[in-house]
Amino acid sequence: MIDHPFLGNAPKQLFIGGQWRDAASGETFDCINPSDASVLVKVARGGAADIDAAVAVARTAFDSAWRDWKPLDRQSLLLAVLARIEARFDDLARLETLDMGAPIARTSTFRRWIRQTFQYYAAQALSTRGDVMSNSVPGDFMSYSLKVPLGVVGAIIPWNGPLITQLWSICPVLATGCTLVLKPAEEAPLSALMMAEILQEAGVPDGVVNVVPGPGATAGAALAAHTGIDKITFTGSTATGRKIIEASASNIKRVSVELGGKSPDIVFDDVDLEAAARGAAMACFNNTGQICYAGTRLFVQRGIYDRFVEAVAEVGRSLRVGHSLDPDTQVGPLASRAQLDKVESYFDVARADGARIVSGGERLQGALGTGFFVTPTVIANAHNDMRIAREEIFGPVVTAIPFDDESEVVKLANDTVYGLGGGVWSRDVGRVHRVARDLRCGMTWANCYGVTDPGVTFTGAKQSGYGNKGGPWHLDEYLLNKTVWLNLA
Ligand code: NAI
Ligand code: MG
Repeated sequence: MIDHPFLGNAPKQLFIGGQWRDAASGETFDCINPSDASVLVKVARGGAADIDAAVAVARTAFDSAWRDWKPLDRQSLLLAVLARIEARFDDLARLETLDMGAPIARTSTFRRWIRQTFQYYAAQALSTRGDVMSNSVPGDFMSYSLKVPLGVVGAIIPWNGPLITQLWSICPVLATGCTLVLKPAEEAPLSALMMAEILQEAGVPDGVVNVVPGPGATAGAALAAHTGIDKITFTGSTATGRKIIEASASNIKRVSVELGGKSPDIVFDDVDLEAAARGAAMACFNNTGQICYAGTRLFVQRGIYDRFVEAVAEVGRSLRVGHSLDPDTQVGPLASRAQLDKVESYFDVARADGARIVSGGERLQGALGTGFFVTPTVIANAHNDMRIAREEIFGPVVTAIPFDDESEVVKLANDTVYGLGGGVWSRDVGRVHRVARDLRCGMTWANCYGVTDPGVTFTGAKQSGYGNKGGPWHLDEYLLNKTVWLNLA
């Protein structure tokens, strides 16, 4: 039994209207530690009836004094939440590590990220403003825009980084005066439940943030289709994102979707080979490859292809794969058995399609054999039409594809249904800017990969979805931009 102050023996309950309660059905599910497949704790299995209850209290909270809180009071609340998170951060990071398997060395770095996020949204809380719009209507009319909180928001998040992902809805809700029903994934609901406790301790009014873990097909689908929800924000697979968009038609709710990816990472032959190889390796292996913008299609200019692929493979071999609580672990397990099965199946797909596995390509045996571990994997002899280059694997698997020149590689890189991230490595400044402009994706990184900051927009293109997270326009998605006409005569 793991010793953690939040876990205990009793099942974790749903958090609705400031109260902990069982699911209406009385059902629970097992929350699994992917490092050894042990059961961490049982969690109440929310369903449609629980979503109904949560939406109802979120509506009541939205219609309360909460909506009219002053900007300075919202700012103070965000900073109070931050202070409570900082006081309990070590437990929060450990819980996330136990629940979804990210190494403790990784989740510990979230301290800085979380602080900056709350500081940023605390500042944003003060900066909501409309505009006076000039008009040419005969007479004497004034017209202006007025931003008011949008209403009740539903957030459905995945399991690959819930501690971070949940903040993309919690912070804007607190900054604007919306209310929230958050449905974490069954694979990793614990950090969201502990966050609910922290929010309450920090003084977030009851009903403003509600957390209902449960299956996607029942709880998630009920939330997406609910007519009491004004906006749904979804992060997850493209297939499920499509269902969310369809379900939103029930009441024409606003939607933002951040979906899958098969992001290109392009390496030209003028790079510092070692630095670029390390960057390209971590662009994919970070978080065991379970990152939506992971650089999984590695395009390498032909002259350095063999050397570069070997250098990336060497980085992969050098990474320490291990139990997520081990402070020396660099690559933890995959988050679930289903994800392990899926990633393993792609090793066979790669071989069957004639690609060559240069390094990795195995499930870990021995002491770690009960967990969901695979080794960082580099695949060569590949081309852009192979399944391993087209489908989101969501594991530490990078597919290396050779190219000859810039215009060819931009075409190849864009030949995908996805458009989330993209990387370019080169010392040629003109080329870097051309490629950054021409890649059809939401974010491009040049001579780095995966850098993010709460003040900088995170967004996608094509079937990787739409909407912003972070940056100067995020709060607009939680605000209704009304127009007011005034007859001054
Ligand atoms: P998923 O997209 O189905 O799950 C994400 C969230 O959506 C979870 O909270 C789930 O409960 C919920 N959900 C599932 N079906 C739903 C429905 N019909 N209506 C409303 N909510 C629903 O992803 P899943 O099944 O966990 O993973 C499968 C694959 O999806 C992964 O192997 C990976 O390729 C991809 N994925 C991509 C992510 C990304 O950030 N790009 C994140 C998670 C998964
Ligand atoms: Mg788990």
